[in-house]
Amino acid sequence: MKKSWHKLFESEAAAKAQIPINDLVTFRLGFKKICVVHTEAGLFALEDACPHKMIALSKGKINEKGQIVCFWHQYSFDLQTGKEMTGKIIRNAKVYPLKTREDGLYVQLPDDKPKDEFSF
Ligand code: FES
Repeated sequence: MKKSWHKLFESEAAAKAQIPINDLVTFRLGFKKICVVHTEAGLFALEDACPHKMIALSKGKINEKGQIVCFWHQYSFDLQTGKEMTGKIIRNAKVYPLKTREDGLYVQLPDDKPKDEFSF
């Protein structure tokens, strides 16, 4: 699947200044909604969808281990790998790579399919 880089912030420092530690912001990029989370370990990007019931992960909290915890059933996800850490489910959250370039902080996402490629 083709992937593209999307600019989110003017720099990594700007992102860290705008997102308090243990907090997040959301972005809509095409059909995708993502969260960018700031913890003591750095910045992480993931799909704003809990793999359990597709509820927005952005409504959750960051726990003391630096994992994002879904507000509904409290499943927690590792921000680097997306792995579900309570052992209650086997599906992981989708995580996306972030990259700092000279002109900003970018996230890499799979390209949206053009409408004529959707199948019913
Ligand atoms: S919807 Fe997220 S843990 Fe159930």
